[in-house]
Amino acid sequence: MDKLVVEGGHQLKGQVRISGAKNAALPLMAASILADGPWRLTNLPVLGDLLTMGRLLTFMGGRVELGQKDPRQNPNEAELDLTMLSKPEAPHELVKTMRASALVLGPLLARLGRAKVSLPGGCAIGVRPIDLHIKALRAMGAIFDLSGGDIVGRVPEGGLKGAEIRFETVTVTGTENLMMAATLARGRTILANAAREPEVVDTGQALLAMGAQIEGLGTDTIIIDGVSSLKGGSYQVTPDRIEAGTLLAAVALAGGEITLVDFPHEALGTVVAKLRETGLILTALGSDMLAQAPDSLSAADITTQPHPGFPTDMQAQFMAMMTAAKGVSVITETIFENRFMHVGELRRLGADITLEGRTAVVRGASCLSGAPLTASDLRASASLVLASLAARGVSQIHRVYHLDRGYERLDRKLISLGAVISRVPA
Ligand code: UD1
Repeated sequence: MDKLVVEGGHQLKGQVRISGAKNAALPLMAASILADGPWRLTNLPVLGDLLTMGRLLTFMGGRVELGQKDPRQNPNEAELDLTMLSKPEAPHELVKTMRASALVLGPLLARLGRAKVSLPGGCAIGVRPIDLHIKALRAMGAIFDLSGGDIVGRVPEGGLKGAEIRFETVTVTGTENLMMAATLARGRTILANAAREPEVVDTGQALLAMGAQIEGLGTDTIIIDGVSSLKGGSYQVTPDRIEAGTLLAAVALAGGEITLVDFPHEALGTVVAKLRETGLILTALGSDMLAQAPDSLSAADITTQPHPGFPTDMQAQFMAMMTAAKGVSVITETIFENRFMHVGELRRLGADITLEGRTAVVRGASCLSGAPLTASDLRASASLVLASLAARGVSQIHRVYHLDRGYERLDRKLISLGAVISRVPA
């Protein structure tokens, strides 16, 4: 278990490329279950969750060549051939480390008519059930039993049938799961109150390239007309808006000036507007973004919302920024019930944050000083790295595997920009 040692007080300067989006890559890998031929993905990020998804698809009998596992291959590419899939099961060991394993449920039921997926347990950032996925798949004709902690699903003769589904809550992977299932169902499926996240759009666009019939991507109503088969092909993963946002927060905290290459301008619109409100100077340069830190940051409030609102996956990083801003910032988390695990750790650095239910009040401009810290979940880990860049002295961030699950070596990217960070086996 590595730890990161971060020496604060060094400005960032230079240029860095944004990697492919983790949250698009995962459903795109699961979508390969639906294809009649091999499926090639490019611009994949190099990170732990993709290895987990690769292990899961291999366990099920697929051929998965992940470039990041083979030094002779391009680390950002993968070839997946799931045509020989024989064991439609997602075991507990894999689901417990990555909740997105549930993304195989819809494709397995659509393609093979059966699936056994271990129920995702409690997660650090909240309960995160998959009841909405199950309810929607039931509406399409799937039958489920619970056995030994597994959800065992089957589909009667004739396959899944189209249905009108209204999600009670906007769910990102739920929308992706159902959209994938509906591509091979009989008839039309309408998904209302669907997620509009750019990663859902990316998944839909890949399915279109496979021959699916989908309308309404990027809106809250997605209409899918089932087809009899989908073909293999290739698809380039969209850049990661959360990695881009995290690097913007990094320069805001550390100071300096950086250029982000392949910046997802449209997908990050709300975050860019909010960061400008804090004083960060952002200039679009074609497909790149130049970010210049101001002399001092100003406080701003955020409330997390489904896309196009402020993303919950940027809440922790924004809070880290607000610890250094002038004034009081009110941060409200509406998506997950327990996504303030970073608060206690940020306080250890000297941040002044009070919590009241789902709202955090940050009294900024505290003088942060380095401390030993423990990462609790993916985005919380990122916020600790960012705050450490601004703190006086040295911070040690333990349990950095959370960070490596979802970022393509964030420490290396920051080091290339001038941050002083070392990775030490703990
Ligand atoms: C996805 C993202 C995650 C992001 C989240 C919200 C991936 C792999 N992960 O997670 O990074 O933080 O969207 O943008 O894409 N819910 C239920 N029942 C369900 C499904 C969801 O109650 O069946 C609730 C959840 O507990 C949560 C809310 O709905 O409170 C939104 O969750 P959801 O959008 O499903 O998150 P994920 O898809 O797991």
